[in-house]
Amino acid sequence: MKSTVAAGIVGCVLMLFPEAMALAAEGAAAPFASDPAVARGAATFKKYCVLCHGENADGSGVAAKVYTPRPANLTISPYSDEYKTNIIRDGGEAVGRSPSMPPWGKELNDAEIKDIVVYLRTIKVKQVKDSKAP
Ligand code: HEC
Repeated sequence: MKSTVAAGIVGCVLMLFPEAMALAAEGAAAPFASDPAVARGAATFKKYCVLCHGENADGSGVAAKVYTPRPANLTISPYSDEYKTNIIRDGGEAVGRSPSMPPWGKELNDAEIKDIVVYLRTIKVKQVKDSKAP
């Protein structure tokens, strides 16, 4: 009985988050807060990203002021997981943005970057459409 309920819940979540299906298909867990990928992503984020993006990923890191454009507020980022993966791995310049966003592909492997992207999904807040978003 319990497992039927669990399967139902997982089914609903998969319908709500198509990306979760891709993750599930790869054998990875869906992006629940209890997902170990979220904790791993958060830990990696704290280590490498807070300096610029801030503890809360809202773009208010201690070094944020010295950059123009400012480090992005990742809680309202309008970009897809794929875009985020690319800019994290290859850096801002590679995607036509500021080189102040460093490339992390040498420091972090694909799994670590994927964990960060899963973590970022969990901290995203709903917002009215940003007029500067593409
Ligand atoms: C040295 C400062 C710095 C560090 C460290 C840094 N970033 Fe950035 N990041 C930036 C800046 C500046 C931008 C904005 C670039 C632009 O607008 O052209 C940015 C943009 C981004 C974006 C694009 C999001 C959006 O909505 O525009 C993502 C995703 C991102 N950073 C993730 C990360 C992650 C994950 C890490 C840690 C692995 C990280 N950044 C570390 C400076 C930094």
